[in-house]
Amino acid sequence: MSHRSCLSVVLAAGEGTRMKSALPKVLHPLAGLPLVAHAVKAARMTDGVDVALVVGRGAEEVRAAVLPYAPDAETFLQKERLGTAHAVLSAREKIARGYDDILVLFGDTPLVQPDALAALRAAIAGGAVVAVMGFRAPDPTGYGRLLEQDGKLVAIREHKDATDEERAIDFCNGGIMAIAGNEALALLDAVGNANSKGEYYLTDIVEIAAARGLTVVATEAAYESVLGINTRAELAEAEAIWQQRRRHALMLSGVSMVAPETVFLSHDTEIEAEVHLEPNIVFGPGVTVGSGARIRAFSHLEGASIGPAAEIGPYARLRPGAQIGDSAKVGNFCEVKNAVVDTGAKINHLTYIGDAHIGAKANIGAGTITCNYDGFLKHHTEIGAGAFIGSNSSLVAPVTIAAGGYIASGSVITNDVPADALAFGRARQHNKEGLGRRLRDILAARKAANKSTS
Ligand code: UD1
Ligand code: CA
Repeated sequence: MSHRSCLSVVLAAGEGTRMKSALPKVLHPLAGLPLVAHAVKAARMTDGVDVALVVGRGAEEVRAAVLPYAPDAETFLQKERLGTAHAVLSAREKIARGYDDILVLFGDTPLVQPDALAALRAAIAGGAVVAVMGFRAPDPTGYGRLLEQDGKLVAIREHKDATDEERAIDFCNGGIMAIAGNEALALLDAVGNANSKGEYYLTDIVEIAAARGLTVVATEAAYESVLGINTRAELAEAEAIWQQRRRHALMLSGVSMVAPETVFLSHDTEIEAEVHLEPNIVFGPGVTVGSGARIRAFSHLEGASIGPAAEIGPYARLRPGAQIGDSAKVGNFCEVKNAVVDTGAKINHLTYIGDAHIGAKANIGAGTITCNYDGFLKHHTEIGAGAFIGSNSSLVAPVTIAAGGYIASGSVITNDVPADALAFGRARQHNKEGLGRRLRDILAARKAANKSTS
């Protein structure tokens, strides 16, 4: 089908009032990515697709959300919301340039599968002038019903305009459609607004085309493919479906999860085969995990790359810019931000590493803190290969501990440490013979005196 040209018109001008949100509906995130970007990504997965984006509220933001996935998308402003056919016609100028197929997608329908879109296009390639993505609705209330006669689609009746008999039909319009490019404008221009909402319904082109003796068909897609988001409850439902799909795909590609339902992925999470994921892990955007790594329970990761055979957690937090090398370890209650951790380095317990580079096989003791922020600027800490940082040390950046440097526990390091040097950054210890007992006697006497006077 790659020889057929296609324009995807993505409708995203809706108000989304039922979200009860200052954010335009199509910008609400699903797996960390705005809804409208999901729709555009799906459209892009079929061959040779140009994108026309129809925007209204939040036009600039909506455009920006789509651009990374369709850099050449053209944006059209629908000034008044007069219905879905009117919305499609906002892109008239681009439709008129001549495409074999016109696909109409909704910005609030993020789970549409590329194969469902391909089925619509295949119907157009096969001679249909309009192809509608139908589905069997468990509860058809609110959806347009697909009216068939002798196995042929003859009309779509919006719920509000339907008779009781028509409302009993459970084969519904998913909203997504394909139209033959050479007929699209003629059909859309013929749509009127004589219905209960006074809107120009895209769905009316079915009846118009059928009356002209043109072929109209309905394909059948899974409910998920057409799940439209109107409320935050539906958004959560879509999120659950998305997560389940993605986890399943990852497991089939060789990722182990003992409790998949507790692993939360982002739209761009990349995990190689032979990775083991323990329960309760949250992947924010921008995480990659190399083969053989193990992410242990209750870890939160975003903007991080994890090298092959590394071990993260339990209870680890990786923040943007954390680059964990091959076979390195970041253990419990450790936070790593904007830091490169080289091969085999170990950061095992209760540590904060920020704005740093940690050399290969360095060992960072429990409670180590890189003091990277002075209240105004962030500063870098350099730790050389094979260095040993004793427990509970504060490394006051900017500071360098050269390769093989050895930091005594409890140090506050403010000056650079040369290679293989031993650095003490703490007060010397003094032992006073017998003074412990004397102090205790004095304090006990004081407490007894206090009691007798109170
Ligand atoms: C639409 C279909 C209905 C189908 C349902 C599936 C029509 C007339 N009805 O109904 O048959 O069962 O989807 O979910 O098409 N939009 C604009 N500008 C407008 C109007 C709408 O951009 O002037 C956009 C909305 O932002 C949304 C999409 O078009 O993304 C669909 O509009 P909506 O009002 O949600 O249509 P439904 O009533 O759900
Ligand atoms: Ca809708």
